[in-house]
Amino acid sequence: MKRYFFVVPSRCVAILFLIYSTYSLPAAGVNGSGIPGSPEMIRLHKLWKPMNASPAKQRGRDRFNENKYGMFIHWGLYSQCGGVWKGERMEDGGTGPKVAEWIMRRKEIPRAEYATLANTFNPVKFDADDWVSIAKAAGMKYMVITSKHHDGFALFDSEVSDFNVVKATPFRRDVIRELEQACERGGIAFGVYYSHALDWRDGGDSGMKDFCYDEKPKQSMFVNDFDPAAVTFSDYIIQKSLPQVKELVSNYKLSEIWLDTPIYTPPDFSFRFYTTIYDANPEILVSQRIGNEFGDIGTPGDNVIPDEASENTWEGIATTNNSWGFKSYDKDWKSPQETLFWLLENVSKGGNFLLNVGPDGSGLIPKQSVDNLLAVGQWLKINGAAIYGTKPWAITHEGPAGISIKGTEHRSKHGFQLNVTSEDFWFTKKGDKLYVIGMVWPESGTAIVRSLNDYTFTDIKLLGSAKKISWRKEFDAIEVDLPEIESKELGYALELIR
Ligand code: GLC
Repeated sequence: MKRYFFVVPSRCVAILFLIYSTYSLPAAGVNGSGIPGSPEMIRLHKLWKPMNASPAKQRGRDRFNENKYGMFIHWGLYSQCGGVWKGERMEDGGTGPKVAEWIMRRKEIPRAEYATLANTFNPVKFDADDWVSIAKAAGMKYMVITSKHHDGFALFDSEVSDFNVVKATPFRRDVIRELEQACERGGIAFGVYYSHALDWRDGGDSGMKDFCYDEKPKQSMFVNDFDPAAVTFSDYIIQKSLPQVKELVSNYKLSEIWLDTPIYTPPDFSFRFYTTIYDANPEILVSQRIGNEFGDIGTPGDNVIPDEASENTWEGIATTNNSWGFKSYDKDWKSPQETLFWLLENVSKGGNFLLNVGPDGSGLIPKQSVDNLLAVGQWLKINGAAIYGTKPWAITHEGPAGISIKGTEHRSKHGFQLNVTSEDFWFTKKGDKLYVIGMVWPESGTAIVRSLNDYTFTDIKLLGSAKKISWRKEFDAIEVDLPEIESKELGYALELIR
């Protein structure tokens, strides 16, 4: 039985930070180069706190917590490669992570050669409304897409750099604008990912020379050391990264900005990113990977199931196979059961769940991932009350299932064995309602829940059924006789009313 414990926000950040740094190894630039507790960090954090604690941010957080489940999208020039470069797969040698959007770094593709991928980027099958419909049918309430990944290519029209979808490709359409508007039409929130410190095209050495104080830099394998632009990291931040972030937050209606991979970003730069975003729209939530602990949204790490609950604002992030960007030969899809399992693990512990899809170079999201997502969407249609807008309860889970996933490589190496039984339950709460979620329908037709002995309630409902339910208190459990329902393949949720 996993207990929920309350931690004050600042400790939460530290704990999430620790979980992240421990489990996302090799760490893709986890924190920036600020030294926690140094006079500079203390001074900047004093200035940051009132913004982070402002009523506007709180409105952003409330919306975020209500939404709970979102679609992450990694899409860019690399999507045309599908994880293969000149006949060689990501796994056939190279340095750095094997996820498909890392192809430029892993295969050490010179900048000019990589840029030729823009000449062929013409994803005529891309339809923003289709993507939004898929997200909605999957039960997702928000979307976050890569507006620029580590390769430096922007999916929006930019005055700052011509290396963007409108100015450098035959496609010439502003993908970020189209998705922003489609999300608005579809009534879901819209956010962007932006790799602010790691830019293999224009980012120089990503701060290795000027801001890395380690003798043996852990993150050297992430930066472009094969053909870096001849600029300082500071010049890159001032001339490209900060101005592009300013363009994004000023020109598009965003709920969230997912800055990533701070590498050696010094604290004053992280702080400037934060204020630039805050000044444009204080409700936009900023990811923890802005660096130097200036984020509004924590994360346990890429494809990590966190061990503990936290009432702090955080978001679990995961892939639908083992790559963020489209990888043509990775068919290790998370099944609907596994997807629901991840959702429950995150939500019962107080987090959101941002699940990634990797559309291909033509603009289509791989069919198998869509089918799996839609199956969970069906479940959410009936059981969404147990997910959206909920908070963690005193206990997050009871039962024998104990699955530990500690990163993208971890899952891809060890696979995922779903060992959930009819004795496993996850708990969430909303107002005076408590939700008990089971993934496996009990053969006997009776759910036996052990954590409710001290919980007072007057009635139980099975979501999706109007039938009256009979239940009794046995000495160490509540026994609930479940009425027959049509769709129980992925499980069910009980609503306990006070
Ligand atoms: C990592 C990777 C990146 C991916 C991201 C998603 O930082 O570098 O490729 O975009 O995590 O969380």
